[in-house]
Order: sequence, then C-alpha cells, then structure tokens
Amino acid sequence: MFIAPLGFFRGISCAFITAPARCAAFSKAQYLTRKRTHVCKQLCLLSSECLSEKGLEERPCSLKQEVYGIPGLKRPRIRQHVNPLSQHLKALAEIPAEWPNQIYSSHSSPLHVDIGSASGAFLLRMAEAQPNFNYVGLEIRRSLVEFANARAKSAGVANKAFFLCCNANTAIRRILESYTPGIVRRISLNFPDPYFKRRQQKRRVVQSELVRILGEYLATGSEFICQTDVLEVDSHVREIFDSIGGFVCEELSVSPFPVPSERELSCTRNGRQIYRSLFIRK
Ligand SMILES: C[S@@+](CC[C@H](N)C(=O)[O-])C[C@H]1O[C@@H](n2cnc3c(N)ncnc32)[C@H](O)[C@@H]1O
Repeated sequence: MFIAPLGFFRGISCAFITAPARCAAFSKAQYLTRKRTHVCKQLCLLSSECLSEKGLEERPCSLKQEVYGIPGLKRPRIRQHVNPLSQHLKALAEIPAEWPNQIYSSHSSPLHVDIGSASGAFLLRMAEAQPNFNYVGLEIRRSLVEFANARAKSAGVANKAFFLCCNANTAIRRILESYTPGIVRRISLNFPDPYFKRRQQKRRVVQSELVRILGEYLATGSEFICQTDVLEVDSHVREIFDSIGGFVCEELSVSPFPVPSERELSCTRNGRQIYRSLFIRK
C-alpha cells in the first residue's frame, strides 16, 4: 500500500489552488493591513507616536492599544447620516445635571464648543494641545457620545473635555446660557454633513436661528470657525452669517487649530481642498 507523506497532499492542494484564488487570498490580507493602517490614522488621534506630524505619518500601530484605547471598547458602527429634523432627534438634549459645574477642574477657563464632535478625536487632542481651555462636544448620535466620553476618561482628560448627546440646533441656547458671557470663546464646526439635495438643506446645522442665538450669547471677540471640503457648504454658512449680521467674516488659508479633525485628516490625505471661514463676534 502507498502511504503518502503529508507534504505530498500539501503539494497537491497547493497545485490545485488557482492563480486567481491565490491572488484573492493575498489581496485580502493586503486589504486588511491597509484597512487597519487607515483606521489607525483615522481614529488613533491621541497617540503622538502613531500620528506625529498632524496625524499624517505612515506607520501601522496596534489596533487594540492605539485605536480603541480602552480594551474591549470599540468605535460604534453608525449609519451614514441621521435626520436632525426627525421627531425623536429634534429636541434631543441629554444634558446631565453635573454639566458644567461638576465636570471641569477649572470652571472659569474659556470654553470651546465643537458642533458635530463625532467620536471626539478632535476635542480630545485639543484638550492635550491647549489645556487652558475647557471643551464640550455636541453630537447627535448617542453611541458616539458614549464612546467619546469613555475615551476622555481613558486619556485622563475627562475634567477638560466632555461630550453631550444633543441636537446642536435645539440645545445650543441651553448650553450657551449655562455660562456667563465671555466664557464661551470659540465654537468649531468641522466638516458638517453637507446635505446636497435641495429639499434636505434645512437639515444643515448652520441655519438663521442658530446664528441669531450665537449673536445673542457670544461676547465681543468670540469666534465661530467652520471648516469644510464642500464649497457650497462654506458659501451657505457665509450667506447666513452675512444675512444675520453681527460678525466679521475672514477667510482662513490654514487651520486655526493645532490638530486636525478626523474628517480633515482624510481630506488632507486625499488632497481635497478645504474651505475655512472665521466669524468674529463684533
Ligand atoms: C461629517 S461628521 C464630521 C465629524 C467631525 N467634526 C470631523 O470633522 O471629523 C458630522 C457630525 O455631525 C453630527 N451632527 C449632524 N447634525 C447634528 C446636529 N444637529 N447636532 C449635533 N450633531 C450633529 C453627525 O452625527 C456627525 O457625527
């Protein structure tokens, strides 16, 4: 009887794997490595090792340690867009009683509000880069808010950066009136959802009512900064500020912040033009 050595079968099975199949297996491995490196760059915004030069350095890192930061905590999966005008999201404002007085270590520090803070990467890095500010992120998706607050705790900046689950349009007045005038120094709106379709444009964050409220509560010299890769959105924001008045508008050629937002990173990597507008309260 012929007893084949193990290598014989291995040889046969290798020979039967067709070139396209081998190619597919190889490209899947390549794809996973690429995806992992990409996700690292997108999300690992707290690690200066991983993302030294404004987050653009090409260096793979450990997904578990660097991206998620907290063992067992994964970035939540989310739908591409939500409708902020839908009944259940319209008046969303989960503002815990402890915010702001029992959150920040120094309540009198100037406040930076980030609208549409997503997973919090931008504000968490800002809290490290400019610790003289307090930070609050406003985000409509609860899972991202929970993730961002968990990351803040893990990074040891929970007494500087906090995230609220709310619809910025309806909650902004309550948030601004929690502070004495002059404390809210800066509001950022990084890469807002563009809502290209005409009938959906009323879902955009910047609307006349929002700008009116900003004008009511912001002290002279406070800033609103909008960054976007969509020219139409930049024009829309400028038109609304212009029509309401009370702000001086400047076009910025570079980011006024020392760190990029998540979306800004991917736009920069893809060579997309970024439009930046600064509105200073008169
Ligand atoms: C395109 S993402 C940009 C995220 C981040 N600012 C960046 O630059 O990487 C827009 C974010 O705004 C949030 N958002 C949209 N409308 C909102 C609203 N009315 N209030 C609060 N957050 C909102 C979305 O859930 C999403 O996380």
